[in-house]
Amino acid sequence: MRILVTGGSGFVGSHTVALLLDKGFDVTVVDNYSNSLVEAEGAIERVASARPEFCRLDIRETDELQRIMARVEPEVIIHFAGMKHVGESTQLPQEYYDCNVGGMLSLLTAARETDTRKIVFSSSGSVYGETNQLPIPEKRPHAPTNPYSTTKSVCERILSDLCTADESWSAVALRYFNPAGAHPSGLLGEWCVGPPSNLLPRVIEAAACEDPEDRKMVIHGDDFDTPDGTGVRDYVHVQDVADAHVRAIEVLNQPGLPSGGFEALNIGRGQGVSVRELIVAVEQASGRELSIEVGPRRPGDVSALYGDTSLARDRLGLVDYRGLDQICQDAWRFKSMHPNGYT
Ligand SMILES: NC(=O)c1ccc[n+]([C@@H]2O[C@H](COP(=O)([O-])OP(=O)(O)OC[C@H]3O[C@@H](n4cnc5c(N)ncnc54)[C@H](O)[C@@H]3O)[C@@H](O)[C@H]2O)c1
Repeated sequence: MRILVTGGSGFVGSHTVALLLDKGFDVTVVDNYSNSLVEAEGAIERVASARPEFCRLDIRETDELQRIMARVEPEVIIHFAGMKHVGESTQLPQEYYDCNVGGMLSLLTAARETDTRKIVFSSSGSVYGETNQLPIPEKRPHAPTNPYSTTKSVCERILSDLCTADESWSAVALRYFNPAGAHPSGLLGEWCVGPPSNLLPRVIEAAACEDPEDRKMVIHGDDFDTPDGTGVRDYVHVQDVADAHVRAIEVLNQPGLPSGGFEALNIGRGQGVSVRELIVAVEQASGRELSIEVGPRRPGDVSALYGDTSLARDRLGLVDYRGLDQICQDAWRFKSMHPNGYT
């Protein structure tokens, strides 16, 4: 089966592309490398012993995207490309709407013209916003608290409306909570342009400092309404997230999705882990101690976010998610093997 993967050189995308290749899919990647390195291509090839086609392109270039799709004739699109930083989105809302919503519309235009009607979309658990109803079920209404999460909510709505209007479309939105970790080989992992903003890469970065004096970690807020006062999130191994995409392709190929061709599924372990607990897990994985400072909360951050994953487990047949220790061990291995990213 031919799959078009947007953003396939990024963190979740690269792990998914490697898994798709392993399983014998024919993969074309479209990425503008705004938040990934071209070195990811070689890393994917080493992990999967196969090479997808890579096209350097911004997905908002609709005409060129359409030309690529007309040539490749993908049966399914997996759409990762987008900007992903909550804090940055509060500073650059226009850029986020342009890239994430504009990018989705461009992709759907190209897909319509080339007759591709199945899409797996990277959504986010952050669409739920602040809630006391934990774990959060998929049916909970969206209440995004920042521009990034709003773009994800809008994109889901576009897909759902499209599937309602035209039954030849089907879409699965995977609402990831916090993808983390790295490929167990240590060859693929999380790399981003500039300092990391997600928590686990920041903790790993601090632990990796050669001088113990520099192993400092700032916790953004310890006055949240959580057991130890620090933010609680649901960390899920990136290999399990990749696996969920491969399984979602099967869901798209089943006749009659339950809700008019559109389905949203929570992708997480369904267990909350606090910032302090995550730091301890990294200290154990790395054998290095961190000194901790507490700073103010960041705009848009919510206290606790973890999903009810029973529907996703049922629909995707995912049962054994990797645990927090393995997430941290694999992330640490990648960092140790690639202190400067893929270089
Ligand atoms: N990592 C997370 O914590 C997380 C959580 C929930 C949802 N998501 C979503 O999952 C998707 C993948 O996340 P990730 O962590 O792999 O991010 P990432 O930044 O590592 O990967 C995104 C990739 O898309 C590319 N890209 C961005 N804009 C593009 C454009 N206009 N045209 C072509 N390529 C473009 C980037 O260069 C990058 O390679 C994103 O949409 C993100 O919002 C991520």
